[in-house]
Amino acid sequence: MLTIHYDEITDFSQLEDWELDLIEKAKEALKGSYSPYSHFKVGASVLLENNQIVTGSNQENGAYPSGLCAERVALFYAGANFPGVPIRAIAIVASGEDGLTQNPISPCGACRQVMLEYQTIGAKPYRILMVGKSKVIRIDDASLLLPFSFTNVRDASK
Ligand code: THU
Repeated sequence: MLTIHYDEITDFSQLEDWELDLIEKAKEALKGSYSPYSHFKVGASVLLENNQIVTGSNQENGAYPSGLCAERVALFYAGANFPGVPIRAIAIVASGEDGLTQNPISPCGACRQVMLEYQTIGAKPYRILMVGKSKVIRIDDASLLLPFSFTNVRDASK
């Protein structure tokens, strides 16, 4: 049996102040999106255990697969600049041609894999806030987004 617990929050006043702040940072990050091909901006903000917030946005490229999602831009920046500092939370927002999406977007499979590995090395579950205009989906453990996930070969062979 696999059960996934998550909150669906439509009343944003139920969010904590630090969560609202993190969401604002993700929205600000949309400004840095380079998405001339999809015209779909994604922003992500990562709160670290040392209270540092790092942000990222999707960066596309004329050689399409060379682009990178907002989540991984932010997470790799955090990994590169604050190695070993566990993550407390990540917020994700998106904006299409009509502005912020009504519904939250959910990270792609490759981003989930990366989200999970940073959780594993941080040895602490972290909160994921997927944010739309009408609601926030809140999940408290990155592993819930990727059941039966791949673990690196060294760990799996133990
Ligand atoms: N994208 C993200 O940045 N994050 C997601 O979770 C889903 C998709 C980007 C990739 C591409 O630049 C654009 O959104 C359209 O797919």
